[in-house]
Amino acid sequence: MSQVSGFHRERIRSVLSSSLLMPVITIDHPADAVPLCQALFDGGISVMEITLRTEHGLKAIKNVREALPQAWVGAGTVTCLSQYRQAEDAGAQFIVTPGVTEALLDFALTSEAPLLPGVSTASELMLGYGLGYREFKFFPAEVAGGIAALKALRGPFPDAVFCPTGGIRRDMARDYLASGNVQTVGGSWLTPAEVVANKDWAKITEIARGSLADVS
Ligand code: 3PG
Repeated sequence: MSQVSGFHRERIRSVLSSSLLMPVITIDHPADAVPLCQALFDGGISVMEITLRTEHGLKAIKNVREALPQAWVGAGTVTCLSQYRQAEDAGAQFIVTPGVTEALLDFALTSEAPLLPGVSTASELMLGYGLGYREFKFFPAEVAGGIAALKALRGPFPDAVFCPTGGIRRDMARDYLASGNVQTVGGSWLTPAEVVANKDWAKITEIARGSLADVS
């Protein structure tokens, strides 16, 4: 059976070890993408997940990749193979899915951009585990059992590493990172909708810097 390549695992490990926090970004206005991501970068965040939840996601990935070549820019909320391919074409350096399908897990074994597959149960994790995946998104973290669930998963899967997202807020990130199998914590709290709507980029930088200080 084919397995995740060493190159892919190395890339995902590099992405996760580059930042304790990963903003989950949804772009409502195309012009916001670059200044928003620049503001996060200025606040110390060098890994970003830009979701395909709006029609602007792919263009945002392309523009942010060009504007911030020093950052890791991934595509999030990828749920099918055509989105996976489109995200790669847009320049996404990694792909994040909210859950797993066998088709996505298989496709990602030979894709250009590596996959961070989303799981919320031991069974879903095992689908990826058998193919050599060891890094996972844990989603939706808070309703799927939060820190207690992550600690429980450490027993049967001691070498699995997680990026939990979903319902996590700034004051919870530190405890998640102390779970023992969490490398990076993700969420949308780093880009509050009203702050983005006001184009208050200085505030975004302040939130990023403060959130990182909380967990460092
Ligand atoms: C995700 O896709 O990771 C989540 O939507 C982020 O969850 P949050 O908005 O509750 O932080």
